[in-house]
Amino acid sequence: MPLRAGRAKLAPSLLSADFADIAGAIRSVETAGADELHLDSMDGVFVPNFTWGMKIVADIRKLTRLPFDCHLMIVQPERYVDAFRNAGADTITFHYEATPHAHRVLRQIRESGAKAGLAINPGTPVAMLQDLAEEIDRVLVMSVNPGFGGQSFIERALAKVAEARALLDARNPACEIEVDGGIGMENAARAVRAGADVLVAGSSVFAADDPADALRRMRGSLPAR
Ligand code: DX5
Ligand code: ZN
Repeated sequence: MPLRAGRAKLAPSLLSADFADIAGAIRSVETAGADELHLDSMDGVFVPNFTWGMKIVADIRKLTRLPFDCHLMIVQPERYVDAFRNAGADTITFHYEATPHAHRVLRQIRESGAKAGLAINPGTPVAMLQDLAEEIDRVLVMSVNPGFGGQSFIERALAKVAEARALLDARNPACEIEVDGGIGMENAARAVRAGADVLVAGSSVFAADDPADALRRMRGSLPAR
């Protein structure tokens, strides 16, 4: 498969950062060349964990100009699209499994002015994107079951990235593919070779002694595109 134009983006996930020093965490990855910040919102229903809502996103918005990639692990995401957009989200990614109305929510997100992202869980086939392809700006292939940082990468995700790329090349070539969960030095390059445009990395960056160095090393491990 030919590599896509432009370098792959790195989106550190703040889930594994120290929230008592969130400004320092953001600064470290910003200076190390992060392309975006990945913000995981969880509601304790769609996933068995809680994180933050719009207030924290809005507060963090004041700390950086990096694009915000808001990954909503919440049921009925349609209730919160405008609120996350107003809080500063540039991309709003929700789960296919979290609403019966994925098509409508994708349009709602684009109408809000944000890029529309659609995430699929490890158990959801790529084929579910078939009738949504033109409505999506970014497909998020989950490479762990959502809810927690620090889990092991599910290898099957690489085949799903390639399947998604083939489907999108035929229907919506501009659509990006993001991979989230268990990404580290040992698989980042493989994810890009499989067709990923955006790599999310949480614990491999923020649980490292030096997050900036970890991010730079990940960048250095990627194939040129
Ligand atoms: C998990 C989140 C991820 C998480 C990834 O549900 O969506 O963004 O932060 O963490 P790592 O990179 O540690 O697997
Ligand atoms: Zn995420």
